[in-house]
This record gives sequence, structure tokens and C-alpha cells, in this order.
Amino acid sequence: MSAGPTEGTPPSVSHRLVFEAAPDGILIVDGEGTIREANPQAARMLGYDPGELEGMEVERLVPTSLRGAHHSQREEYMADPHPRPMGVGLALKALRKDGRELPVEISLSPCSTAEGRFVIAVVRDVSERNRLRALGAGTLRAAEEERRRIARELHDDTAQYLAALLVRLHVLRRTEDPEGRRVLLDEMQEELSAAVEGVRRISRGLRPPALEDVGVEAAIRSHVRSMAEVSDLSVELTLDQANRVTDPEVQLVVYRVVQEAMTNVVRHADADRAQIVLDRDGEELVVRVADDGRGFDADQVLLDGRGLGLLGMDERARLVGGRLKVTSEPGRGTRVELRLPLPEESSHV
Ligand SMILES: Nc1ncnc2c1ncn2[C@@H]1O[C@H](COP(=O)(O)OP(=O)(O)OP(=O)(O)O)[C@@H](O)[C@H]1O
Ligand SMILES: [Mg+2]
Repeated sequence: MSAGPTEGTPPSVSHRLVFEAAPDGILIVDGEGTIREANPQAARMLGYDPGELEGMEVERLVPTSLRGAHHSQREEYMADPHPRPMGVGLALKALRKDGRELPVEISLSPCSTAEGRFVIAVVRDVSERNRLRALGAGTLRAAEEERRRIARELHDDTAQYLAALLVRLHVLRRTEDPEGRRVLLDEMQEELSAAVEGVRRISRGLRPPALEDVGVEAAIRSHVRSMAEVSDLSVELTLDQANRVTDPEVQLVVYRVVQEAMTNVVRHADADRAQIVLDRDGEELVVRVADDGRGFDADQVLLDGRGLGLLGMDERARLVGGRLKVTSEPGRGTRVELRLPLPEESSHV
């Protein structure tokens, strides 16, 4: 090294910097399985305070169900240590202090010093990668299903009516009798209306109904009405601020989030009551769907990259500059809250 602030610094100090600043968690574990050192990133991702990991048994970072196996594997590894990724092809999990399981990738390298043998474990948090993968796969699958549905409808419905129309048109050409022609024309008119209705239905399915014409409030009310037919959930609506949502893209996000959150309430919550609120908080629009049902561990679902519905809501929120928060606890209901910046002009109204 020539000049600069590190001039004359012993290498061990800059190595320490690398250890401290590394984006991955690094644990140095001794032959007994005790963590001797952990960098700040390791503590952060596992939910511990700085310094808290040192002196702890590394097995405490292994989900309880896997601890036994981990212990014997670690002893095997210490007998013949060599650099290797851990659990290649397996979905590894690290147990955080709060009891949640973090999806991780771990690489191990042995090192020997005068003090004995150690293993350096580099731990990478892969929850964000899993989330994006699940989202990508889910989006593709949803698009594929949608295409199949449209193809089926077009084939079984619209194309059938049009084919029948074509046949009758041929017959019509050869029919001279006026009464016969009248009957044929009536039938053709009916088939044409059915085909038009089919096309309308398909395009309605592609975009939520009423939304462009009647706005978010009516669309949500109509969705809740149709849900009431299949469940006895009582839903309270407070939608006074709904008319502030005028941007069609934002309308769609608000509607889809309410739709998914309510579908989840009906499918998963086993709730008696739900509440849908469109409110204003300063410069923000707040959309809230709350239920008094069984609740769930939302953070764990998101960490695992499970829950395409939740991920989809989150993604939609971000697309329009908003954010989504899911608060839920087993036994205490669930609250899905979407916050969106209100357009400037409407915040002065
Ligand atoms: N309101 C709720 N009450 C209780 N559990 C819920 C609620 N919302 C979500 N969950 C739990 O979170 C999980 C993930 O929800 P998410 O909507 O992401 O997926 P899903 O509903 O299972 O499937 P889909 O991809 O069809 O939406 C659910 O399987 C359920 O266990
Ligand atoms: Mg869902």
C-alpha cells in the first residue's frame, strides 16, 4: 500500500474491517461448537445485539427439529474439515433470536491456529432472493393460467357462436322462403348477441368490473356484496375517502389489495367481523382491511417467500410508490394496511 489513511496499518486491522463490514454474516466457531466471534451482520440478520452471539453454542442457531442431526454432522466435519458449502441443494434455515426461521446459504471453511481448529461459517440471508423468485414464478404462473382461461372461453364460447353464425349464413344464402329466412335471421341475431356478451364477459374478467366507470367505492361495495353471498362474515365499510382515488393505476392497486385481503379473510381467518377503511392520514391515503380472526405469523410467511397473495399486494403497493404492512398475531386477528401518497392537488381540497 502506498498512501491514504491505511498507510502503515498492520494487515490484521484491515482484515478486521473486512470482517466487520462484510455484507454476509460471519461466525467463527471452535471445535466444541462455541461461537468465538460473530460480525455485526451476523448478529443483525439473526436478531441479536452486537456481542451477544459470542460464547453461544452454534446449535442454538439451528432450528430445533434439526439440532440433533446438526450436532453429529458438525462432529464429523471437525474430524475431516475442508472448505464446502453446507447443505447444497437444501433449503437451509437459521433460527433467529425471535424464533423465526431465516432462509440462508452457508459456506464453511476450516482454519487452524495455535489455539486449535476453528470453522469459519459465512451465512448469507437469501430471504429477499427467495421472495423475488417466488414472485417471478407466481407471476408467470398467474399469467399462464389467465391465458388458458381466456383461450378456453374464446374457444368454447365465442368461437362456437361465431361458427354457428357462419353455418346459418350459408343456409340463409340458399333459403328463398321468406318465413325460413326470418327464422334464420332471428337465430343469427341471438347468436350474435351471445357472442358479444361472451366477449364482454372475457374483458370484464381481465379488468375488475365497474372500476373505471363507477370508481373504487362502488367496486369495493359490489365485491363485498358478492362475498356476502358465500360467507356470513359481517363487513363494516368506511370509504369516505374513496373519491380521492382517481388515478386508474392507483384505483386498480387499491381494489386488488382490498380484494386479496378480503379473500384471505374469508379463506383463512375464520373471522366474525371485518372492516375495510379508506382513510386519509396527512398526505397519505390509508387503506386498511382488518379482521378479528385467527391471525398468523406474517413475518415468517414473508421470510419464507411463501404467500403469493401477500407478496403480490406488496409488489402492487411499491409499483405506485406506496407500502404495505401486514400486522398479525396468532389468535389476534390480522390487519393489512396500504399507504399511498395522495396526489398534491387533492391534498389541498
Ligand atoms: N387474514 C388472514 N387470517 C389468517 N391467516 C391469513 C390471513 N391472510 C393470510 N393468512 C395466512 O397467510 C398465508 C399466505 O397468504 P397469501 O394470500 O399470501 O397466500 P394464500 O392465500 O395461501 O394463496 P394465494 O396465492 O391464493 O393468495 C395464508 O396461507 C394464510 O395461512
Ligand atoms: Mg391469498
